[in-house]
Amino acid sequence: MAVLMCRPDHFGVEYEINPWMHVDQEVDREKAGSQWQKLYHAYLDLGQTVELVDQRPGLPDMVFAANAALVRNGTAVVARFRHPERQGEEPYWREALSDRGLRVMEVSPGISFEGAGDALFVGDRLFAGHGFRTDRESHPELGRMLDVEVVSLELVDPRFYHLDTCFCPLAPEVVMFAPEAFSPESARTVRRLVPHVIEVPTSLAVNFICNGVVVGDHLLSSSGVEKMDQQLHLEGLATTPFPMTEFMKAGGGVRCLTLELD
Ligand code: ARG
Repeated sequence: MAVLMCRPDHFGVEYEINPWMHVDQEVDREKAGSQWQKLYHAYLDLGQTVELVDQRPGLPDMVFAANAALVRNGTAVVARFRHPERQGEEPYWREALSDRGLRVMEVSPGISFEGAGDALFVGDRLFAGHGFRTDRESHPELGRMLDVEVVSLELVDPRFYHLDTCFCPLAPEVVMFAPEAFSPESARTVRRLVPHVIEVPTSLAVNFICNGVVVGDHLLSSSGVEKMDQQLHLEGLATTPFPMTEFMKAGGGVRCLTLELD
């Protein structure tokens, strides 16, 4: 697997666009740097390729590479961010992705779409979130551009404003998710379509443990994910917890820092 990451050279909480962000709560930059390095080295130790994009000054959330785009079979559908605070990232992501040989596409003007943060494959089916950042209108467009089936899921709890904060594909037929973050109908849709579902109570999900990435038989996620060990072991997964305190101040965890490129 190849992933794209952005070193937190200019990371901080400089505005508030989700309930986790408080400009008066200071980020420990050194700590953020070492938390990021730990994750970066874990990918390398697991034999993954990590591509790096330089963070631009004035774009503190650029570290959250997951939002850059959704990548599938050589095509990248780039983000159109909901909030002006992040829209400045768009040209840099576009450039980074096309420099890497990806065919860059986008959703129609006026529609927002926040990349892999709101769109996750479970097997060949794309689950896409809407309600806070990504417009539902983007979902059929994604389906057409990538030639995949798309299932729309409605997010209802502002703390879980991106799909990847409350929904974690573990295998082609297995998902870990926090049902209370979804409308009752969307939670039912997940249970109906995914053969094996592991449910996470909101009290644990607020630690960003659903914001994880599976590499081989490891689930890399935020500290607290080990509380799910029993159920995850049954799936043949070992948890690797990472302290993510500084990134959680901006509303992000392990998966947010990572864009899967293939
Ligand atoms: N502060 C960022 C924002 O609100 C955090 C993004 C987290 N990314 C994610 N994929 N969930 O946009």
